[in-house]
Amino acid sequence: MQITILVGTVNGNASSVAQALQFCADDIGATIDVLPMDGFTITALDTPGAFIICTSTTGVGDVPPNAAGLLHSLDAEAKYLGHVRYGLVALGDSSYGDSFLGGGKQFDAKLQDLGARRIGDICVLDAMETVQPEDDAVEWLKAWAVQLATLA
Ligand SMILES: Cc1cc2nc3c(=O)[nH]c(=O)nc-3n(C[C@H](O)[C@H](O)[C@H](O)COP(=O)(O)O)c2cc1C
Repeated sequence: MQITILVGTVNGNASSVAQALQFCADDIGATIDVLPMDGFTITALDTPGAFIICTSTTGVGDVPPNAAGLLHSLDAEAKYLGHVRYGLVALGDSSYGDSFLGGGKQFDAKLQDLGARRIGDICVLDAMETVQPEDDAVEWLKAWAVQLATLA
């Protein structure tokens, strides 16, 4: 199983979570690549295998600057993504109220608009609740990988 984790981050929290997931590759019998979203367009989703979008939120419900190009490309270069299976790891802070997880939710909505299929629930990493987001994400990954495998 090939999994590509696309990372949107401002200060590195999402990168740290993605790295923790990558360390679990053997446990779930997968090969995991971790790639910052910088400079990516929709063609990044042509890679074989499944994807994990691992992104924080900045501003007021915005994606991090390094993720803006990919999000924009999902509009500007929209195409059918029916082959895409993805999971969503969304970092945020519930003290931001309505814009909680806005960055992740924007990706989720856009990918589903284009026919991509999200596997499993969103991995919600709330800075107000979680002191070890990496641990929570690893637990989520194990369950997510089982769901992904049952589809294959
Ligand atoms: C300037 C700023 C704005 C933020 N805006 C939001 C927001 O609108 N919604 C949210 O859920 N979290 C928001 N956050 C919280 C971050 O998403 C959270 O701290 C996350 O762990 C940062 O991860 P990163 O280092 O990978 O960017 C904001 C954080 C900062 C510093």
